Amino acid sequence: MQSRCLNPETGLYQQYQGPSVLRLYGTSVFLMERYLLKANGFWVLAAVVGAVVISQLFAAYYHNGLNRYPGPLLAKFTRLAPSKVGDVVRIGPNSLSVSNPAYVPRLYGVSQGFLKSEMYDPFAPRVNGKRFDSSLSVRDPKVHQAMHKPIANAYSLTTLIDYEPLVDKMIIKLLAELRKRIDGGNEACDIGLWMRLYAFDVMLQVTLSDTLGFMDKGGDINGFFERLDDNIDRSGLLVTMPWTAYLLKHNPIVSYFSKDSSVFPGWTASRVQDRLKRRAANTVPNSIHQQRDFLGRFIEAAHMGDPPKFDFSQALNWTLTNVMAGVSWARSQHLPYLDAVIKESLRMHPAIGLGLERTASGLEMPDGYVLPPGTNVGMNSWVVNRQAIFGDDVDEFVPERWLQSPSETEAEHKNRLNRMKRADLGFGAGSRSCTGKYVSYLEIYKVIPSLLLTFDMEMVDEKDEWTVVSRWTVRQDNIRCFLRQRGS
Ligand code: HEM
Repeated sequence: MQSRCLNPETGLYQQYQGPSVLRLYGTSVFLMERYLLKANGFWVLAAVVGAVVISQLFAAYYHNGLNRYPGPLLAKFTRLAPSKVGDVVRIGPNSLSVSNPAYVPRLYGVSQGFLKSEMYDPFAPRVNGKRFDSSLSVRDPKVHQAMHKPIANAYSLTTLIDYEPLVDKMIIKLLAELRKRIDGGNEACDIGLWMRLYAFDVMLQVTLSDTLGFMDKGGDINGFFERLDDNIDRSGLLVTMPWTAYLLKHNPIVSYFSKDSSVFPGWTASRVQDRLKRRAANTVPNSIHQQRDFLGRFIEAAHMGDPPKFDFSQALNWTLTNVMAGVSWARSQHLPYLDAVIKESLRMHPAIGLGLERTASGLEMPDGYVLPPGTNVGMNSWVVNRQAIFGDDVDEFVPERWLQSPSETEAEHKNRLNRMKRADLGFGAGSRSCTGKYVSYLEIYKVIPSLLLTFDMEMVDEKDEWTVVSRWTVRQDNIRCFLRQRGS
């Protein structure tokens, strides 16, 4: 970067190669030397502090040349700023948010090789005071691959049917628990809450063939949701300003006082140990899945090397990732309107509320500007999903947009659908897209028809506002419905 600046030694203008922050320091030191050192100590100190603050503000404003992009004034200095409408918006001193769907493959495409930014550091869980990377937080592609490869098959589409009986068990539980509580349709229920209870019991069931019994209880257990929500709310801050994570989480002093700041590790570790003991007692060879759940597969995958050695922390890491995160599956795949409704719901209400940031050194912006090394760029589903590529009425809930319209040929529909799918960031994109995508589909595509076949559902009050809280994830509550058993 070249510019004219004051040389602090000579006080003369000259060509200077270096970051803008150094140029500003140079200028301030020169001015201090020339005018202030003769004044009294207080004013010298005030001038030094003032010069440092001003120089930092300037440096942040011009960082990586991002001042060329619009954005709220605050975003030029800090990430504590709301974003504004625009194709490329500056949302922090070193961060851009891009909404143009053509950038999904350019930013996330496997061949581009852009790595996750430091925004993911806060997601690294801490167990017994130590940081260890999770699938979500790890940035080094080699470490990510080593972590993911042994268990990729456990998440594949073909493995899915193994988990179906476990999901079925939870759907039967959900319907039974709801029936008990709706009092013949007179008692309102918060279906948002019940979907959450169901989702957690399903994930525990398919991972460990066990649950904590959220649906039995009909609510939170031991303040788990409360702590999880606190954690996610905190992540909202830490993720948008990753340096705060080093202050509040990955910090030896904080670790010393809170040995175990992540929510589930103790409980999960005891489940893993329990399974290992049972396997040992059965004296069944390691190569056979005793239980067709995720843990069975993780234990299998954690026997590495020759002779095989069991890596407990790896098995625990994979299991924890799952734990933190309902008509037959095959039939639900052939219900086009159900498919359209689910796609439209995920378009209008994506699960992640922030941009998925990558360090996009060298990426060319639509105005031709090539981003300097280290610049972070993210795309946010809540913004991308409302671009014209999805149609004219993007703010409306219109499942039909996913179906073939009467005026469209099959080929045209396929083309349009593919364009929308390529822009879809609901489960991320590229090599770091969601591992749990098919399991989530299994949960969603089965539970919706099961609920609709069992109950007539009606909102308590059409004007009721949902409570939607957007942090890293977006959660919703207060979706109050009356459920009436069908045919009764
Ligand atoms: C409707 C449910 C879900 C949605 C919408 C969703 C969405 C996402 C998105 C958008 C990402 C990409 C994050 C990024 O690029 O920064 C992601 C990553 C991830 N998801 Fe999900 N997710 C869901 C459920 C699940 C479930 C049930 C699991 C566990 C079984 C899971 C495990 C993961 C993991 C491990 C990653 C990190 C992948 C990597 O970086 O390699 N997700 N998810």
